[in-house]
Amino acid sequence: MVVNKQMQKNVNWGRVQATIKEFRDGCATPLQRLQKLAADMHKEMIAGLAKDGGSKLKMLLSFVEKLPSGNESGLFYGLDLGGTNFRVLRVQLGGKDKRIVKQEYEVVSIPPRLMIGSNEDLFDYIAQVLAKFVAKEGNDCKLAPGHKRELGFTFSFPVSQQSIDSGTLVKWTKGFAIAETVGKDVVKELQAAMMRQKMDMRVAALVNDTTGTLAGGRYRNDDVMMGLILGTGSNACYVEQTSAIPKWPPGLPKPEITVINMEWGNFWSSHLPKTKVDDDLDADSVNPGDQAFEKLFSGMYLGDIVRRVILKLAQDACLFGGSIPKNLTSPFVLRTPDVSCMHADESADLKEVAKVRSLPVETRKVIIEICDIAAQRGARLVAAGIVGILRKIGREGKDVRTVVGMDGGLYEHYPKFRGCLHEALGELLGKEGSANVVIELSKDGSGLGAALLAASHSVALQKA
Ligand code: GLC
Repeated sequence: MVVNKQMQKNVNWGRVQATIKEFRDGCATPLQRLQKLAADMHKEMIAGLAKDGGSKLKMLLSFVEKLPSGNESGLFYGLDLGGTNFRVLRVQLGGKDKRIVKQEYEVVSIPPRLMIGSNEDLFDYIAQVLAKFVAKEGNDCKLAPGHKRELGFTFSFPVSQQSIDSGTLVKWTKGFAIAETVGKDVVKELQAAMMRQKMDMRVAALVNDTTGTLAGGRYRNDDVMMGLILGTGSNACYVEQTSAIPKWPPGLPKPEITVINMEWGNFWSSHLPKTKVDDDLDADSVNPGDQAFEKLFSGMYLGDIVRRVILKLAQDACLFGGSIPKNLTSPFVLRTPDVSCMHADESADLKEVAKVRSLPVETRKVIIEICDIAAQRGARLVAAGIVGILRKIGREGKDVRTVVGMDGGLYEHYPKFRGCLHEALGELLGKEGSANVVIELSKDGSGLGAALLAASHSVALQKA
């Protein structure tokens, strides 16, 4: 208490308010700005589909030709690599009537040293975990006749695909940085690592997590037109008519539809509300200049945005009475789940904030205000992005139901972010328009979606 009183005395409240105001103004997302952003998203989508390099939005072709219909049957595997954990899963599909007969999975965390180590070490580690998992396959598992084990590989990074079962890594994102993998076919890398484990398994589909989420959603619901990830990173994909893709490689057969992995984390528009804090975060990141949109709100960064503003208040306005808490200077020490927890606290004395650090109530209020500004900005930007996509597929304000398959902790575990996103969609689309847009959470659906895509793109063994 003594400490609290002393702290309170030294705080320069005028400067605290001025700094918060500056941050709030920099983060402002009035409706007009959101509309401009939706328009820019739409414009950039068209530019990215016109030619490679036409936009910061890569609009990557997935070569998905068939979305799951429910008729798939047989035994398939999924491997999901993309955040701090990866998952392996096995699913026995029983066709239209029985659907998912059995599903098993394991989640393993990736040792951080492997995220910045060597290519071979990363793929060997993954293949080892997969091999151990396959070894536990029960006798009740049945491959489709004439098929070997097939795998859907969810690889949640930008990949330039040449076919459904190949693709070269364009760049790493989200804290992964293994230079030698860039430009390599990640399917070949995985296939080689599986060979080293003496596994006989074929990668039938290489998919982004957005695409996996969309496919997993489509399996249950024909109205799913988009896949969205709000997690460590953020990205969106959607179902596009190939006739609207001028950059479709000449000579390649054209299915009617395909899925486009937008890589919207790299979206850029002059209307994006960016602050000095965002510029500093970008400069200190492992990929400066990249992923501008994602860095404004995704789970990997949101906590650090809040930490940076609090640090500024500690330095410039003596928010902690003149001393600077040591861990506040460590990047990423405040995680987005902490922010979500503090932000959710509606008790009079804001106990959740005190759990993170023992502080006077006035200071706790300041911290919550910062969480609120940062989360509101993020959720509203996501809403603008969704509206841009709806416009592109001709479903904005239409009397037709569009379902967005969603996955990621930022959506699932951050109720205020989620609420704000829905509210902003209402503002942008109006009451009736937004009622036709349904966001469906499909928890960890991307691994299952990839296994389903492996099933719909599976190839029977050639008869000898
Ligand atoms: C990053 C990746 C992207 C992925 C997203 C969500 O933005 O570049 O491929 O879909 O994170 O995991």
